[in-house]
Amino acid sequence: MLQWQRTAFHFQPLDNWMNDPNAPLFYKGWYHFFYQYNPSSPVWGNITWGHAVSRDLVRWLHLPLALVPDHWYDSRGVWTGSATLLPPDGRPAVLYTGATDDSVQVQNLVFPADPADPLLLRWSKSDANPVLLPPPGVGPQDFRDPTTAWADATGSSWRVAIGTKDESHAGIALVYRTTDFLTYELLPGVLRRVAGTGMWECVDFYPVSTGGVAAGEGLDTSAVAGDGVKHVLKASMDDDRNDYYAIGSYDLEKNVWVPDDAEADVGIGLRYDWGTFYASKTFYDPAKRRRVLWGWVGEMDSEGADVRKGWASIQAIPRTVVFDVKTGGNLIQWPVEEVESLRMSSRNFSGITVAPGSVIPLDVGSATQLDIEAEFVIDEAALMATTEADVGYNCSTSGGAAARGMLGPFGLLVLADKALSEQTAVYFYVARRRDGRLRAHFCQDESRHVLLTSANDIVKRVVGSTVPVLDGEKLSLRILVDHSIVESFAQKGRTCITSRVYPTEAIYGDARVFLFNNATNCNVVAKSLTTWQLNSTYNHPYSSSKGFS
Ligand code: FRU
Repeated sequence: MLQWQRTAFHFQPLDNWMNDPNAPLFYKGWYHFFYQYNPSSPVWGNITWGHAVSRDLVRWLHLPLALVPDHWYDSRGVWTGSATLLPPDGRPAVLYTGATDDSVQVQNLVFPADPADPLLLRWSKSDANPVLLPPPGVGPQDFRDPTTAWADATGSSWRVAIGTKDESHAGIALVYRTTDFLTYELLPGVLRRVAGTGMWECVDFYPVSTGGVAAGEGLDTSAVAGDGVKHVLKASMDDDRNDYYAIGSYDLEKNVWVPDDAEADVGIGLRYDWGTFYASKTFYDPAKRRRVLWGWVGEMDSEGADVRKGWASIQAIPRTVVFDVKTGGNLIQWPVEEVESLRMSSRNFSGITVAPGSVIPLDVGSATQLDIEAEFVIDEAALMATTEADVGYNCSTSGGAAARGMLGPFGLLVLADKALSEQTAVYFYVARRRDGRLRAHFCQDESRHVLLTSANDIVKRVVGSTVPVLDGEKLSLRILVDHSIVESFAQKGRTCITSRVYPTEAIYGDARVFLFNNATNCNVVAKSLTTWQLNSTYNHPYSSSKGFS
């Protein structure tokens, strides 16, 4: 039942509940992916670590559970954690949060039982567990999700960050120093504290290159702070279930990180994604010298629907993350290049003019597994003739894809049926100030993805944000469509939106794609527009007797 909602090239376990990505790493030629998993139900609980491996981050082999709750210090759940690859041979040390018999959040250490095994099938929990308890003043249930460790200046010790909150509801990242991952010293002060943001889950902290050395590449988590390097701090806000990041400077000696823009601090500024995307985690991939981001994309339907379909949650397509040297103020996220190896037949629709108020069907063939790239330009004369338009526009509150304005909305309708009774609109909306300055919004309208009558337990909303567009740039977008997920990237990944959608009409051969322009004042030209069918990845289960089936 509801089989059409399963994805073809996004990561999913074969059944049941999944949440956060855990300890992604590259080891002896394999990408490893672990995840929060309930092996016995499509609802959160009984949390273990599921495990899968891949050669290319898109085709996965499902392995047996890596960690299960079998000790007093994790009996209520083997929760989120991260891996640090130790020199000289890159053996992973994994720290994770255990929920104890008494529901106290403690940190535990685990190593591969056989480091010679590239699949890392068996793991040994340290006899010293738990290795870290909540410090004085920290609530027993507010101390979780250790980061990957980074090397201290001397190289002889490591630092690990852990999220918490204080009694005044400020979100906090604490930092510990360790030499052996067995004993820890809490460093004085805090890495960062932001008032009013509440519990920080799944903190991530990593360097990015701002040009010069390793320009355009990812940096190892231990790369030294200094010229040409900034640090990204990310926290998952338990209060609003979104992943916020900020870019700033890290002072290792003082144990503080300061955002470049105090107005856009962690929890109040930028988000990785303006749709459904949470508890994310990056890792450094030494094979391709890139930093890769994983994020959990939960369901937007009811628990009852998850029970009926027998599974819940998807992982977003892994994304490379780099600093945006052009704007200097945000990250750029882009699907890992291996996704392009799934591209099959393509269609080209470049040069189509979309008149105000029109909807144009695109004959893309089958439309449930697609990669779409498009570039738009607004008719220059219309732009110039519009003196002021919609300066107060907001994706979430300005009426979605159906509300017409002077310079928007326009873009694509995906997972739409022929009658357009079901559709997910991915669109731009341009506002123009009196002084001529333009401001582009990138939005996704989730309010009409399923016929209103058939599913009233589904959340319906419009999401999105502004996206920087520099002089001379066209408005560009990329969309990955995969049955019940639409993952979109504007301006090559400056602003991203992921939606879960549950069409009942626009499925299999009945799904379609349209160009639309709901602006009242301007023609929009799709300067370039290419669609590709994407292959299924046919992820395989592992059987210990037969190997991979
Ligand atoms: C985030 C989170 C983590 C925790 C895990 C439990 O989604 O709540 O803070 O470790 O999930 O499954």
